[in-house]
Amino acid sequence: MAYLLGIDIGTSGTKTVLFDPSGRPVASHSAEYPLYQPQNGWAEQDAQDWWRAVCETCRAVIGKSGVDPAQIKGVGLSGQMHGLVMLDENGEPLRRSIIWCDQRTGAQCEEMTRLVGAEKMIDITANPAMTGFTASKILWVRSNEPDVYEKCRHILLPKDYIRYRLTGEFATEVSDASGMQLLDVKGRKWSDELLGILHIDRALLGKVYESPEVTGQVHAQAARLTGLAEGTPVVGGAGDNAAAAVGTGTVREGRAFTTIGTSGVVYAHTNAPIIDPKGRIHTFCCAVPGAWHVMGVTQAAGLSLQWFRNNLCGAEMECARGMDVDPYELMNQQAQRIPIGSQRLLYLPYLMGERTPHLDPDARGAFFGLSSIHTKAHMLRAVMEGVAFSLRDCMEIIRSVGIAPREMLLCGGGAKSPVWKQMLADLFGLPTATIPSSEGAALGVAILAGVAAGIYASVPEGCDAVIRKEPAGAPMEANAKAYEPFYRMYTRVYPALKESYKELATL
Ligand code: XUL
Repeated sequence: MAYLLGIDIGTSGTKTVLFDPSGRPVASHSAEYPLYQPQNGWAEQDAQDWWRAVCETCRAVIGKSGVDPAQIKGVGLSGQMHGLVMLDENGEPLRRSIIWCDQRTGAQCEEMTRLVGAEKMIDITANPAMTGFTASKILWVRSNEPDVYEKCRHILLPKDYIRYRLTGEFATEVSDASGMQLLDVKGRKWSDELLGILHIDRALLGKVYESPEVTGQVHAQAARLTGLAEGTPVVGGAGDNAAAAVGTGTVREGRAFTTIGTSGVVYAHTNAPIIDPKGRIHTFCCAVPGAWHVMGVTQAAGLSLQWFRNNLCGAEMECARGMDVDPYELMNQQAQRIPIGSQRLLYLPYLMGERTPHLDPDARGAFFGLSSIHTKAHMLRAVMEGVAFSLRDCMEIIRSVGIAPREMLLCGGGAKSPVWKQMLADLFGLPTATIPSSEGAALGVAILAGVAAGIYASVPEGCDAVIRKEPAGAPMEANAKAYEPFYRMYTRVYPALKESYKELATL
């Protein structure tokens, strides 16, 4: 029997899953690693931690499954996008990776916009200069750590660093490369024009592949460390969202998904490179050759709830341990009992700045309308509603560029919450669906590996062979009506705070 391996290098940990060709997970293993936040708004991870997690999870999965590694016909890589990995001439990381949610590069984004021009930036990269994206991180290192930049010979994204450790190849693929802000997104190749203006040497960047193409083979040393067979093909893979799109079958026009992980994403497939001229949503190449996707991002979606849990729900965590249940289950029960609108309490989920619809690294979280009648449960529901309002903001912009999904697939950790699921159906005004597999990105890149191995004829056909959707819910008219005034109010709070956020950042 042939097997396919998907490796997803996430922000909280790496998850590796072995699948059979019907998409059934045969064995799965996760390993966590730390996130370093040396300053407010900064976020870094150690690339060596990712590699250790990949070695550990590959070995564990092969061990648990009892599968002969020679039967694994391909490896797909997925992962957190945008992180900057800089390697020296020996392929050693020069500093910790500055990752996607880091917000330190406001000044570099202004510089990029000035040098390139706002319109040209959107025309070439399909996005305005973004603090989260890789290009501004490269410029930050060049200005602030010139000795590091001087020694840098290779610039890679997180999953592409793993590709290098597995195969020795310096390569990337179109979906993740779109988030570096150095790619000509319509042309699916590095933009020499942009690299010239920003004075970034093209030789620092990897070779760009389409997602289902083979980029190299596992070499002997990596085989020893991971337990994989030497010579196993490694395909391009995809950034986590493009990978989740494949893993949920969101690979044709009219399809869309929303995921609540650390960040929250509303993602829609498109066969044409549709670009928001105001740059409020991202347009990236997707993992289907010749197609794109648009996507709005809430920086701190699941992160908002996790922050609330870690700092304010000690009792629930303790109780959940005693009952052997997930603390989020108890939190959901509390949120469920609070009425829509949390009795006039609103939450802005901007803990890590924001991208959609307000591109603002200085924005921060806020509770608005706090009264002495409010309890922790009200605050909890307000957090969940604030995240859902922010995802509705993303949906509004996607609709405004003429993309009209007929149904919304819900995935990620947040899709386990019945409260959040109904909220999203009500706020989007769309029927929702889920898929039984919770493997999302790992399954998506395993399908890509299956296309390269000739097991599936194409990415959409691979999805048809593997993914089964289940209806999850429908919008309830009374709820939708009840949310509307709170959503309208929510959209007015950020504009009122915008200038104060700027000032707060300078205190
Ligand atoms: C996408 C993005 C996040 C990260 C982390 O643009 O920044 O989805 O990939 O998961």
